[in-house]
Amino acid sequence: EKQEQTYKIGFAQAMTTDNWREEMNRAMKVEASMHPDFNLQIKDAQNDVAKQIKQIEDFISKEVDVLIVSPIQSVPITPVIEKAMKAGIPTIVIDRKIEGSNYTAYVGANNIEIGKNAANYIVSNSKPNQEVELIEITGLQTSSPAFERSQGFHEVLAYHENTKIVATIAGDWEKTSVGDNLKSILDSVGSTDYIFAHNDRMAMGAWEIARSKNLEDSIQIIGVDGLFGPNGGIQLVKEDILTATVLYPTGGAEAIKLAVQLLEGDQIDKNNILNTVVIDEMNVDIMQNQFNKMNQQQNDIEQQQSVIREQITTYNSQTNLLKIMVGL
Ligand code: FRU
Repeated sequence: EKQEQTYKIGFAQAMTTDNWREEMNRAMKVEASMHPDFNLQIKDAQNDVAKQIKQIEDFISKEVDVLIVSPIQSVPITPVIEKAMKAGIPTIVIDRKIEGSNYTAYVGANNIEIGKNAANYIVSNSKPNQEVELIEITGLQTSSPAFERSQGFHEVLAYHENTKIVATIAGDWEKTSVGDNLKSILDSVGSTDYIFAHNDRMAMGAWEIARSKNLEDSIQIIGVDGLFGPNGGIQLVKEDILTATVLYPTGGAEAIKLAVQLLEGDQIDKNNILNTVVIDEMNVDIMQNQFNKMNQQQNDIEQQQSVIREQITTYNSQTNLLKIMVGL
């Protein structure tokens, strides 16, 4: 007979200061709630590398059955993940990568492809001999999505002589890293045709600066993430604030599914690459409808789960009452 057992899944989240990470956590919790014998604990490193290392060490000493990590930066988080692996804890890396390949599995979209998608979108929306000027705003360059998005973006543009990156801003994923830099660049170059920001939050920051200079109608801004909900990329495309956004799914549900498969003894792939797509005015309504439907289903499931929990409580108290009545 199979023994009743609870498995511990520890998730070391880089930070939870933005909606994208909130969504990743939410998706993990929902997926974990489908498996009552799997216990998920999330630790939030608040964008502090030393803190993330400590939290991972805590998970190692607690002997979690599976560790999931979204590393803040690649290089400094690599050794502690190697330590977990050495301790025999299967480790799933999500979204941002570490150095080398000493981990059990990776889950996330292909960030080189995301950069390529953004560049191809710009190229295919320009006329054959049109000179196109662009500004790139990168994410934190010590985190893998930033250098991979740049790599893909530059790879495609290198084939198109008419495109020219007039300035690059080294952002840090947050809106505050865009403001003054972009202002002074626009002061010196006047305007630009496109801005590619490595995520929608920085893209929104770029739009605010463009608007303060009355340039919001002449600069086309492309972001990444394509989050659903208030202030998400989908809404920004609908409101014509962004020309496009490249979908970067969080992979939260997928990471938990992988953890469950691992613990059930299934073979899993080392690389689990999620799909991405450019969202612009052509497909934004379809995307929004899809997300609405998914959300509706999600809510239904959550409601059913709470009904089931109530029924279990009622059942348990009735059983107890019965036991008292028959003198057990
Ligand atoms: C969220 C975020 C996203 C970005 C991802 C890259 O914290 O900044 O906007 O796509 O991290 O790791």
